[in-house]
Amino acid sequence: MNERLLTPRRIVEELDKYIVGQMEAKKAVAIAIRNRLRRQRLSPEIKEEVLPKNLILIGPTGVGKTEIARRIANLINAPFIKVEASKYTEVGYVGRDVESMVRDLVDAAVNLVRQEQMREVEKKARERAEERLLDLLLPARSRRDGAHEEGEAAQPDTREKLRAMLREGRLEEREVELTVEKRPTPMVEIFSPQGVEQLGFDFQNLFERLIPSRSEERKMPVREARKVLTQQEAEKLIDRDKLTKEALARAETSGIIFIDEIDKICSREGMVAHGPDISREGVQRDLLPIVEGSLVNTRYGPIRTDHILFMAAGAFTVAKPSDLIPELQGRFPIRVELSSLGRADFLRIMREPKNALVKQYSALLEADGVRLEIADDALEEIARIAEEVNNRTQNIGARRLHTIFEKLLEDPLFDAPDYLQGSLKVDREFVVGKLAKVLESEDLTRYIL
Ligand SMILES: Nc1ncnc2c1ncn2[C@@H]1O[C@H](COP(=O)(O)OP(=O)(O)OP(=O)(O)O)[C@@H](O)[C@H]1O
Ligand SMILES: [Mg+2]
Repeated sequence: MNERLLTPRRIVEELDKYIVGQMEAKKAVAIAIRNRLRRQRLSPEIKEEVLPKNLILIGPTGVGKTEIARRIANLINAPFIKVEASKYTEVGYVGRDVESMVRDLVDAAVNLVRQEQMREVEKKARERAEERLLDLLLPARSRRDGAHEEGEAAQPDTREKLRAMLREGRLEEREVELTVEKRPTPMVEIFSPQGVEQLGFDFQNLFERLIPSRSEERKMPVREARKVLTQQEAEKLIDRDKLTKEALARAETSGIIFIDEIDKICSREGMVAHGPDISREGVQRDLLPIVEGSLVNTRYGPIRTDHILFMAAGAFTVAKPSDLIPELQGRFPIRVELSSLGRADFLRIMREPKNALVKQYSALLEADGVRLEIADDALEEIARIAEEVNNRTQNIGARRLHTIFEKLLEDPLFDAPDYLQGSLKVDREFVVGKLAKVLESEDLTRYIL
């Protein structure tokens, strides 16, 4: 979406399409995103001073934290990545080091900018691809010795005729032969204890460039060749240096890294620091300079992390935000709590979001020609059950609805379309009939719902 249109209110509106409630979190996220855009318009002196206000979303499991991140990703036109804190390990240990998240962000930025530039050159690339297609389509004879024969004069004519046919889509299935680049399978794999990433730049890429890329002739129908040729022409039209420069700048000034499950790198209070906990704190310590602002090497060049916005999320059921090392707490000044979900929320979650469960299951059954009609009293009953089970066993938030729906519709999903056709009416009785047995027994509830 156009950045200027992305006002805080608009961002919240967009999030509302998928996430029910959690207004505080939506607002905080919207403000943080808008502030990035606002900063872009400031004068250079003050621009440097305005640092991003990193935020943490705190809330029990299954209430929409990750969902918010997912939806923002589709919404904003800025480099954005979502990472899981638990995937990282301290420098020196086997696994992904924390800096690699910045490299991933730069990769995302490169993809974003490349797509933009692709769109810019698309028209031109298409025109050129058409010319090349015509070259390929022209009868071999006139191509081979066209320059010498009298046919030369006739050729432009033929070419235009072919062009007309091509545009009318009459040659789509005609086979042509063209040269495609064959990605060399990497001959050199780099094994280092920390993986290639630690080396700071891309050896793999370097080697790929050293080894001349082999090309091969391939036959394919016109409709496929057009895509390949357009791609090839677009690549030629794009200025690589400009692309990487722009991508680095974009990642630096408007990049957002969403660190999910940040509570998983807290070391639990009161526990003696040994074993995995040491590594957890190590991850936090490695995170500090990145959040604070430092220089990270990437395969496209160094990048400053000062103005990257960090959003974090965690359930913090065992650990608390105060269990993070103090320096890190201080660098996430904004804390927003998401509320746990109740019956009324469930009712809305089943119906309202664009991807609501009812819509999903209806579509699935519809694909087999079965019309699903869920009555309001059935939904109310499901919401009630979801709340009850969450209270009785574990509160897994809206995910409870998923388990209940699976159980509820197990039979129809199995029977369609062999034994079930036409329409399926689900009312309160249906719900009770399917679930009462399970609900009666504590153990069954624990295992099934
Ligand atoms: N407020 C909500 N509105 C609509 N759907 C929701 C809401 N909360 C959760 N869901 C649905 O529940 C599922 C789980 O939500 P999500 O992944 O956001 O959980 P989470 O808060 O990140 O939990 P965890 O701490 O376990 O990672 C998603 O499929 C999401 O669509
Ligand atoms: Mg999550």
